[in-house]
Amino acid sequence: MDTVSELLEARLRAAFAQVAPGTDPVLRPSERADFQANGALALARALGRSPREVAAQVAAVLDLGGLATVEVAGAGFLNVTLTPEFLDARLHALLGDARLGVSRSDPPHRVVIDYSAPNVAKEMHVGHLRSTVIGDALAALERLGGEEVIARNHVGDWGTPFGMLIEHLVERGEDAGAAELAIGDLTAFYQAARAAFDADEGFRERSRARVVALQAGDPETRRLWRRLVDQSVAYFTEVYRRLGVTLSAADIRGESSYNDDLAGVVAELDRQGLLADSDGARCVFPPGFTNREGEPLPLIVQKRDGGFGYAATDLAAVRDRVERLGADRLLYVVGTPQAQHFAMVFAVARQAGWLPDTVRCEHVAFGNVLGADHKMLKTRSGSTVKLIDLLDEAVERARRALEERGAAIDAAQRDQLAVQIARAAIKYADLSTERQRDYVFDLDRMVAFEGDTGPYLQYAHTRVRSILRRAADAGADARPEAFVVGEGASRTLATSLLGWPDAVAAARATAQPHRLCGYLFGLAQDFTAFYEACPVLSAPPALRAERLALCELTARTLAQGLAVLGIEAPERM
Ligand code: ARG
Repeated sequence: MDTVSELLEARLRAAFAQVAPGTDPVLRPSERADFQANGALALARALGRSPREVAAQVAAVLDLGGLATVEVAGAGFLNVTLTPEFLDARLHALLGDARLGVSRSDPPHRVVIDYSAPNVAKEMHVGHLRSTVIGDALAALERLGGEEVIARNHVGDWGTPFGMLIEHLVERGEDAGAAELAIGDLTAFYQAARAAFDADEGFRERSRARVVALQAGDPETRRLWRRLVDQSVAYFTEVYRRLGVTLSAADIRGESSYNDDLAGVVAELDRQGLLADSDGARCVFPPGFTNREGEPLPLIVQKRDGGFGYAATDLAAVRDRVERLGADRLLYVVGTPQAQHFAMVFAVARQAGWLPDTVRCEHVAFGNVLGADHKMLKTRSGSTVKLIDLLDEAVERARRALEERGAAIDAAQRDQLAVQIARAAIKYADLSTERQRDYVFDLDRMVAFEGDTGPYLQYAHTRVRSILRRAADAGADARPEAFVVGEGASRTLATSLLGWPDAVAAARATAQPHRLCGYLFGLAQDFTAFYEACPVLSAPPALRAERLALCELTARTLAQGLAVLGIEAPERM
């Protein structure tokens, strides 16, 4: 199903093209009509004519094919009003469509999304939270659009620090060390290893020998390494479970899983004549990348000591995803500081022919999480904030908020609800800001039941559901013969409901989940205005059926939207 905006904009574009080519009219919701199209103003300026005159000329040739009528307004706007027939047909179509008008890509594309990617034996921090929450929402969004999504969790499980970590595990006593990791005391473990490394020459020597043994595949060293990895993965998996994300252990492809491909990556770059030596390291200098002094920037693929690094691994991962997985599109949900790394990796992969032009490749960057002081979020002692502590704290606040409301629920229900509300609070706060921007982590605001928050949307959904339950108990008919939808609040709600597929399309086109949040918050507000102005249960039967149908569509749209954001929509709160 084409979206309402797509249908109308195509016809508007055709009319504008008759007046002057190249104008791209944009439709917006309007107070005066259902939509307003601008475009005449810019065109008039370009043509040196009066905007009203241009708008009138467009209106005269505009053929809306019975979908809507048009009127010139104000300084030169086109007010577009849907015809009763089209509005009725659309609303009925939505009622009968489990997808609520969202179209399905046919044939589907294969989209590989790289997200979460914490590091073994290191704490998952708020940056990993953002990657996990945004990546999971994008995965759900693409799945909703009918695409085939493959999640890749590029866990940091390889590299020189593992020499020191393995040695520390041995000295700490294997079981005691493993236990420390399993309960999530990763920072302490890492710091103790670091301290020993810095203080003790013998430890340093043994750590270096461990790295060599690890790379050479020494069985005992590998076994110890596996133990470190497994303990950490168990901990990450527990965090995912608590957060309620779809990412699972099966999606993990750690850096180490590309080890066997690294030599081939370098050999192929060499064969293509792309390698250059820089201080003994083997590098590619992709065109267009320079440092502040204007000198070409290297992407290091093999270090002086022969080891491969982060970049070589990412090149191998691109090849794997394109050649083995058959990806049509690659997304990397990683913080903004790695923008240059990804730009260079993509450029080199294109140069080497591993990334054909037909494969879209995007770094889905995001900003920082800040504390109340507007500096990077830290604990009072200055260390990284543990994700799980944030979640615990949010659950606690949600539980208190529920108690204060005195909701008539038992303790088990309250515990479950508190978890659902906490997840909603944390995820929505993250997803509702444009992802490149920083945001302040403020639990009080996030958990609030009022304002632009996750719990508010959950609550709005429960309110609609409760109306529908009461209607069902009363045996009220919720299927109108025809939608009349006159003016005012019910009209605004109806056109807002038609806009859900447009919101999905906009979010997908830009990989910006905040567009869904903005839409859902607007819908919840439109519903509130509707419910204040239009009695539902006490209305005469025909009108009541229409209003109940609008309620049902609102509830379903909110639930579908929240699901994409990874937020549960409970029945009651
Ligand atoms: N483990 C890295 C970090 O914590 C992120 C990895 C992102 N993904 C990738 N393919 N490089 O910063």
